[in-house]
Amino acid sequence: MAHVLELNDGFHLNYTNLMADCIGALGIREDEILKAPRLNRAMAAMRTLREKGQVRGHDEPVLFTRLPYQATESEHLQRIRQWGQRVRRNFRSVVSLGIGGSYLGNQVLLDAGRSPFWNNLPPEEDTPRIFFAGNNVDPASIHDLDRILSLPETMFVVISKSGTTTETMAAFMHFYRRVQEAGLEPAHHFTAVTDPEQGILLEIAREQGFPVFFVPPGVGGRWSVLSDAGLMIGELAGLNTHELLQGARQMDQVCQRENILENPGYLYAVLCHLFYRKSDINEVVLMPYCDALKSLALWYVQLLAESLGKERDRKGRRVHEGRTPIAALGTTDMHAQTQQHREGRRNKLLTTIAIRDFGQKEIHLPAEGDLADRLSFVAGHSFSHILDAARRANEDALAADGRPSCCVSLPCLSEFTLGQLLYFFEIATAFEGELLNVNAFNQPGVEHYKKIMKKLLDGPRR
Ligand code: PA5
Repeated sequence: MAHVLELNDGFHLNYTNLMADCIGALGIREDEILKAPRLNRAMAAMRTLREKGQVRGHDEPVLFTRLPYQATESEHLQRIRQWGQRVRRNFRSVVSLGIGGSYLGNQVLLDAGRSPFWNNLPPEEDTPRIFFAGNNVDPASIHDLDRILSLPETMFVVISKSGTTTETMAAFMHFYRRVQEAGLEPAHHFTAVTDPEQGILLEIAREQGFPVFFVPPGVGGRWSVLSDAGLMIGELAGLNTHELLQGARQMDQVCQRENILENPGYLYAVLCHLFYRKSDINEVVLMPYCDALKSLALWYVQLLAESLGKERDRKGRRVHEGRTPIAALGTTDMHAQTQQHREGRRNKLLTTIAIRDFGQKEIHLPAEGDLADRLSFVAGHSFSHILDAARRANEDALAADGRPSCCVSLPCLSEFTLGQLLYFFEIATAFEGELLNVNAFNQPGVEHYKKIMKKLLDGPRR
């Protein structure tokens, strides 16, 4: 029997291969979903989060669920749009400096909204090439980027909520010096996106007269893709940010449904959680069958890992929770990871993402001609049909061995469906935090290495 949650606009969550009637003993039964431990408490906690912006055990407000409801005609979003138009008219390259939540979502917007090959495609008038830096401190990458950029035609967008992140600030310092050395006015070449009240970046930006935009209070880095931090890059890439927010808003509405079987975000979270609790399935492989969503898998890795990987639960008990996310790409990683997924430890749940219609980007292979006889296995097919056959074959091969998988399927890749998809994973992750009874909105584990690194960098200059 097929188990598919279908939304009117074509978003499908097919969880057939997670269910006991399909994959046998390891699978989940419908009554287990309905009676999942902490389900009602988790739903109540999500209502409080939405209504009051409060999360138990988290001192600050949590407001990411408000982002889809930003009025696109608001003064604030108009300001972003005007800034975007000015930058698009005057600059041929943009470098977005940021890391973690101040980087990953923006890469998704560019790749999925335009193309992973965006910078290599013939330039479009009024749409700059967009590079990412400050997401590492590898000198070789910065060195090579320096060779690509023509500084008078480049805008640097420095994104850091804290305004103190080592990687971002090192890259900022480097490019600031380069801009000065080129005799250019930094205020014309830098824009800052940061906390509205504090941080070194805010101080510098104000002193220097950079345009400043904000990651709003209550929106942590990995939840910020629909805030200024993402919308600005969306505007620069020429995306319809109104549609992006609409998609997220539509997903937010269906993710408020009380019936868990009709609520995609909660249903996905509960299913993953039940596998984790029942069968120690503690790794999730996110495998979009679409190159443009490869970076979404990386974005999701951060979202899940930082949100749910926690030493302690809310009662202070040492629990060491969290499923380990793995980014994969279909079909590419079927030639790299699938051997392990199909025959390695039985601790993985595979989530695939399918795009049903590639629109004008579709390619059909010829059914006849020189090569058709010998390449009959692909001749006459469209690329998307082959892609889909590979995905279904992967899922079926896993199911035949009782291994769980599910598929999120989108009618096409558009700003609307991208907004839905990003927000679906955000809601599912927040909800899973409630099922686990951990705080999904902090990241205390990151502080440990930061303290050690600070001491190392306080030492002699080298
Ligand atoms: O989710 C988070 O809060 C982190 O991953 C941050 O996004 C990341 O550390 C970058 O922080 P910042 O935006 O302060 O530079």
